[in-house]
Amino acid sequence: VEQGCLSIVVLGASGDLAKKKTFPALYHLFEQGFIQSGDVHIFGYARSNLSDEGLRERIRGYLKGASEEHLSEFLQLIKYVSGSYDSGEGFDKLNKEISEYEMSNNSGSSRRLFYLALPPSVYPSVCKMIRTYCMNPTSRTGWTRVIVEKPFGKDLDSAEELSSQLGELFEEDQLYRIDHYLGKELVQNLLVLRFANRLFLPLWNRDNVDNIQIVFREDFGTDGRGGYFDQYGIIRDIIQNHLLQVFCLVAMEKPVSLKPEHIRDEKVKVLQSVNPIKDEEVVLGQYQGYKDDPTVPDDSNTPTFASIVLRVHNERWEGVPFILKAGKALNSRKAEIRVQFKDVPGDIFRCKKQGRNEFVIRLQPSEAMYMKLTVKKPGLEMATEQSELDLSYGMRYQNVKIPEAYERLILDTIRGDQQHFVRRDELKAAWQIFTPLLHDIDAGKLKTVPYQPGSRGPKEADELSEKVGYMQTHGYIWIPPTLA
Ligand code: BG6
Repeated sequence: VEQGCLSIVVLGASGDLAKKKTFPALYHLFEQGFIQSGDVHIFGYARSNLSDEGLRERIRGYLKGASEEHLSEFLQLIKYVSGSYDSGEGFDKLNKEISEYEMSNNSGSSRRLFYLALPPSVYPSVCKMIRTYCMNPTSRTGWTRVIVEKPFGKDLDSAEELSSQLGELFEEDQLYRIDHYLGKELVQNLLVLRFANRLFLPLWNRDNVDNIQIVFREDFGTDGRGGYFDQYGIIRDIIQNHLLQVFCLVAMEKPVSLKPEHIRDEKVKVLQSVNPIKDEEVVLGQYQGYKDDPTVPDDSNTPTFASIVLRVHNERWEGVPFILKAGKALNSRKAEIRVQFKDVPGDIFRCKKQGRNEFVIRLQPSEAMYMKLTVKKPGLEMATEQSELDLSYGMRYQNVKIPEAYERLILDTIRGDQQHFVRRDELKAAWQIFTPLLHDIDAGKLKTVPYQPGSRGPKEADELSEKVGYMQTHGYIWIPPTLA
């Protein structure tokens, strides 16, 4: 990491995201020495009237288990500035605080990172304020970068409007659109897996792959976020961003190099190759009890579950369904990619239908990759059974701590690496895929079906997967190995 004076400004410092994700990520970067006292100052900005100590105490509450020595040193780096999100006064004050710190540091540099842990409705005004009052002075070397969080709009038009508003204020290389799924270890591994293994190269296509599922499940509901969630629904909350980013990395062509722009070019290309979604390849669900939340309207049609088939119109994938499925209040919490291969032609083990080969990448929890194989059942009989080659990270990498997504992404921003951030044209292509469907749902043309909380979701979703070709292996279950 380049050295010099770094100011990290967390806007919306007293909000949930900042407390749960941003500050803890900064702490962990500090703990590991990626940001250091003397080099870095952290500024919390929000409307509430808080003292420095007040903010520090709040953050402390989210860092249980941290070493006291590190923690108190870290907290001393944090200052609080209060102000509104649309008036010059607060930002002028913020700028003075940052400048004062920069003057006291004799490195001659000024690196300013603004993290907008705020609702997107205030992005335009906040960015305008930053642009007007808080840019890094040209007399010093350095930069100003802005991290923004989803939702980036609600559909194609609103996203484009937001993009142009921000685009007038900042260059694309100053804007970091975060999608925290891109910071997950096994998502980052996809590129290596696909393009550094001879084994996969010839198999990863329509000749061998029957279908691919990208699945996100949560075993809790919208718990107190009903008001926000109801405006967006599961497609905008999870599928259009997190699952679609994973889809890009699974489906895209090999990039020219590892340069962020080369990778993002390929992501855009595969998104642009996605066919319009067909109504009959969509299942929407809403868990029973969702509308008990007083902030959710009684007639809400917002999906808390969706299964959507994407079809890629290109040489590699024509005819292969990509099933993107996400749901809240289901029976388990996990996220995984499941690549199911076609049946073996000319099967000679006819006595029993063989299960298909499947390559599963478990993104979370218990990161793992396993490959379902058919093997001879050990013993005297000549019988076959399903087993697996298993790479479970907990077993294989016993002393490695897998970093939090936010930690890496903030570090990338400090390093100026945009590979794991969403580019403007990528965002546009992502919205193009889902906007017609979202408009139909909003207009009530497509209805959600109810499902039991704690279940697998609507049975129609399993039927859809089966209809497009997914074959479940009955009687086989992968049990994550545990350390003895
Ligand atoms: C967020 C969504 O982006 O991702 C939440 O808004 C969801 O609804 C969360 O719970 C899931 O993230 P993770 O990292 O826990 O899988």
